[in-house]
Formats: sequence, structure tokens, C-alpha cells
Amino acid sequence: MTSFVLLGGAGYIGSHVAKALVRAGWTPIIVDNLSRGQALSVAGLTLEQADILDTPALVSIFKKYQPSAILHFAGLIEVSESVKNPSEFHRNNAQGTASVISAMAQAQIKHLIFSSTAAVYGQPDHQAPFPENLPPCPINPYGESKLTAEQIIQESYHQHGICSVIFRFFNACGADIDAEIGEMHDPETHLIPLVIQTALGLRESVSLFGEDYPTPDGTCVRDYVHVDDIARAHLLALTYLQSGGESVICNLGSGTGYSVREVMREIEKLTDHGRLSITAEPRRAGDPAYLVADISRTCSVLGWSPHHTLRDICESAYRWHQSDIYQNFWRSRRRG
Ligand SMILES: NC(=O)c1ccc[n+]([C@@H]2O[C@H](COP(=O)([O-])OP(=O)(O)OC[C@H]3O[C@@H](n4cnc5c(N)ncnc54)[C@H](O)[C@@H]3O)[C@@H](O)[C@H]2O)c1
Repeated sequence: MTSFVLLGGAGYIGSHVAKALVRAGWTPIIVDNLSRGQALSVAGLTLEQADILDTPALVSIFKKYQPSAILHFAGLIEVSESVKNPSEFHRNNAQGTASVISAMAQAQIKHLIFSSTAAVYGQPDHQAPFPENLPPCPINPYGESKLTAEQIIQESYHQHGICSVIFRFFNACGADIDAEIGEMHDPETHLIPLVIQTALGLRESVSLFGEDYPTPDGTCVRDYVHVDDIARAHLLALTYLQSGGESVICNLGSGTGYSVREVMREIEKLTDHGRLSITAEPRRAGDPAYLVADISRTCSVLGWSPHHTLRDICESAYRWHQSDIYQNFWRSRRRG
């Protein structure tokens, strides 16, 4: 049976990809240190608790399951946390990736899919949407750590013959269609869950950072891509690598930008909430006006296209936040 190891597979994106792999008849093996992810997001799947910095542990897991490819989602993801603790981000995200490559070389595994980020672009002068060949110029330690990881992976082709698909995710969002899994970050910093939590009365108001950007309504424009579309892209990337595809970097976004206010209005309409309580705050340092993906390469190389609209994203996330699993998670975190 074809198996794949998902590093960081108990996290938000990894658990959705794991579920998609199961649906496709493949076997995901989850490896996670559970520092941020939840075992309940991958209930029923094989879970090995290990840290990606522990190379011998990875080698033994890789040799035990002999996966066809590694899908590497493991990482620290909060930009503001990275500014406070840059060395921890470098250690976990960049050195962690070097450890993954070393273990893959020792276990002779040749295919890798890596979760990078739009944060590697920084604040380009280039008019959005951003193609992959823009010179990367990250403006925070999170983006820097991911760019270093990308470079380590690209070098691994020359050193060990490892072929890779590096995905640069834009704003991953939405939830599983069955509302069995979804975003469970704590603290939560992503816009859509924060707005939904406000609509559900779990928080009093949602902050809006900056209303004076050079955008149509003055708020930042971002590219929101459904986690289900991200999962489908991973399945296509596995097929691409298995059929001899060359290493490639691909943006994963919807290709369409929405302003923060447009997202808020969409959720207000969906929840019949009326006007949400919004707290206007100054701009945050390092937030570019536009971050929108040029997805033409991803579409042509992988035969992928996004299927879900912003409405689908908000509906699925809303269903998830109303689920017993999410509500129990929320209550347990507030008690703890
Ligand atoms: N969520 C987004 O919008 C977004 C955007 C751009 C890039 N990404 C990237 O996608 C990946 C997945 O993001 P996510 O939203 O699912 O995050 P997440 O925090 O939900 O998942 C990351 C998982 O990695 C695990 N992990 C972290 N460090 C580890 C280590 N040293 N060893 C083993 N496991 C470790 C965590 O426990 C967690 O389960 C990350 O690498 C992130 O940088 C996410």
C-alpha cells in the first residue's frame, strides 16, 4: 500500500491533506511533536510523536514505513512570535528542514513536498499578483526561516537527488466539508476564524489593522485559498513527482484578492449577524497593501485550479466553528 509521511500532519493544513490522502486510497503516516497540532485532528490514523529536529528518530520512522514521499508541513507559523524569538524560528523551520533532508538522504527517499509561504516575497514593488520568479525578500524572521528552508531543499537535489515541490501558501482558510476538522490555532491570529469567533460571541470584537492603505476600501487585500483546494494540490503534486516531474516552486492561492472589509462583510451576511464589533487599530509593521498570488504556473504544471469561492471558505469555517469539536476545544483552552 502506498504510504506518505506527513511531518506536522496533526496541524491545520496537514490534517486536511491527510484526510484527502485517505479518501484517495493512500496511507498517511503522521509525524508531529504535538507542540501546536492536535492528535484529535488525525484520530484513527497512525501517529508517531517525534520532533523533526531529531534526525535519528526521523530516519527510523522513514525506514519503518518506507514512504513514497515526505510532505513537510512542520513549522512555527506566527510572524509576531518570530519577531520576538527569531532564533527559535530559524532552529525549528530552517535547521528542522536540514534534519528532514538528512533523514531522507539516509533513508533514500527522493520526493518531498514542502509548505513555504508568501511571506518569502516580503513587500515587493511589483504590482500584485506575484509570480514565483520575483526575487524573494522576506521582512520578518518567519519569512527568512522559510526562505532558508527553501534553499536547503533546492540544494538537496544536487547533493542527494531529492526532487521537490515547494508550495508558497497564501492565506490558507476554510474547513473540511464534514466539519470534522478545521483550524484550531491558539492563540488565533488569522482573520476568518477571528471574525467568526466574534460573530459567535466567543470574542467581543475583531481588530482591523489599518484603513489607509492604497486599496479600494483602504484595508489590506489578501488571497484566501480553501484548505480543501490546498489538499487537492498536494495530491496532484505527488502524482507529478511520481511521474518524474522536476523540482518546482508553486504559489498556492486563489489568484483573487479580497480586502479585510470584504471578508468581514461576507461573514456578516453569512451569519445574519448585522454589523460586527470592529476595533480600528493602526497599521501593523510589515503588512503589505496587497498579497495576491499569480497561480498560472501552478495551474499549468500541476493541472490544478481552485474550486472554492470566498463564500465556500466562510461557510465551511463557520460550520466548523459551530461544531462540538471546536466548541469543546475553545472551552478547554479558556479553562486551561
Ligand atoms: N496556515 C496558513 O495560512 C499558512 C500560510 C503560509 C504557510 N503556511 C505553512 O504551512 C505549514 C502548516 O501550517 P498550519 O497552518 O497547518 O500550521 P499548524 O501550526 O496548524 O501546523 C504545524 C504543525 O507542525 C507541528 N510542528 C511544529 N514544529 C515541529 C517540530 N519541530 N517537529 C514536529 N512537528 C512540529 C505542530 O505541532 C503542528 O501540528 C507551516 O509550515 C506554515 O508555515 C501556513
